[in-house]
Amino acid sequence: MTKIAVIVGSTRQGRQTDKLAKWAAQEVGMKADVEVLDLRDYPIPFIDEPISPRYNPDRKPEPETKKWLDKIATFDGFVFVTPEYNRSTSAVLKNAIDVMGHEIDDKPVALVGHGSSGGAQAIANLRMALPGVGAITIPQALFFSDRLADSISDEGELKQELRDKPYGPQEQLSTQVDSLLWYTTALNTARV
Ligand SMILES: Cc1cc2nc3c(=O)[nH]c(=O)nc-3n(C[C@H](O)[C@H](O)[C@H](O)COP(=O)(O)O)c2cc1C
Repeated sequence: MTKIAVIVGSTRQGRQTDKLAKWAAQEVGMKADVEVLDLRDYPIPFIDEPISPRYNPDRKPEPETKKWLDKIATFDGFVFVTPEYNRSTSAVLKNAIDVMGHEIDDKPVALVGHGSSGGAQAIANLRMALPGVGAITIPQALFFSDRLADSISDEGELKQELRDKPYGPQEQLSTQVDSLLWYTTALNTARV
């Protein structure tokens, strides 16, 4: 079965991104195998390697970095869930991308952001960064602009009113996950 990772892009105390990730994972879980990857469980050191990971066949990553890379390599597709910090994605998520070599080559990524403009600039930032490590960002993205604290419970349940809203976040998420799975199937076939 198709394996999708949902990556929590914030490690901050009191973060909100984890709730958004849990909500997204529920939708993915109805359609594919899903695992939430929390960057708190992968304390990757800031990249300090002498050669770009993609161009270093003799690379010897730090143990925590290797654990992350080995995990990423096991998935067929991804949902990156990002906060917006200063019109950008988080440093911790950017670093988790910068350390990648070829583990995510030709694999699809769906983007889910939040912030006052739905994390639009964080998502734009990820659209620029991810092709650098060979990933393919799918055309749609989910810009969650409702206040997360009031919209999604700690368990990842979206408020009923938003769930029922025509063209609201639930419908957008469902459409986006379907698209991610379409690209996952197509790219799995093409990569063989
Ligand atoms: C350092 C910092 C910078 C921020 N910059 C922005 C920003 O540029 N645009 C925005 O919409 N929200 C910004 N915010 C608000 C965050 O979107 C909000 O705190 C959100 O909950 C962050 O996700 P997190 O709680 O999972 O860390 C910023 C928050 C922090 C902590």
